[in-house]
Amino acid sequence: MKILVIHGPNLNMLGRREPAIYGHTTLAQINNALTEKARASGATLLAFQSNHEGALIDFIQAEVDDATGIIINPGAFTHYSIALRDALASLTLPMIEVHISNVYKREPFRHVSLIAPLVTGQISGLGWRGYLLALAWLLSTHVDN
Ligand code: DQA
Repeated sequence: MKILVIHGPNLNMLGRREPAIYGHTTLAQINNALTEKARASGATLLAFQSNHEGALIDFIQAEVDDATGIIINPGAFTHYSIALRDALASLTLPMIEVHISNVYKREPFRHVSLIAPLVTGQISGLGWRGYLLALAWLLSTHVDN
């Protein structure tokens, strides 16, 4: 099992970025927690963050062939990147969209997700633990099936 965890722009600043909204946990701490959990279940986890739309797309195209699931928080690209949406559109593996904050409680421009119609499910507003829950679900699909 190889799970891709993809973080979009500004998520490298977690811990320092608007902590009242995004909390104090850093991206490194999130990735470490996910990596440990995956390893304990015998899965491989590959985490990637970029502030650049094309770099995220390059990563998806380079790594998706042997991947079994994707956890993605596209950051602001959620709301307007047709290119990122198109990169995900042809994939058939399970994909979970994660947002640390509850985007539906925030500004109206955050209420639209271009990728929501493509993903298996969405977790929004559960803080950084939303990533852990997404991973638990992906891991469970392999146990149950
Ligand atoms: C976010 C919500 C987005 O609206 C925002 O642009 C982000 C983070 C979240 O995790 O809550 O960068 O995806």
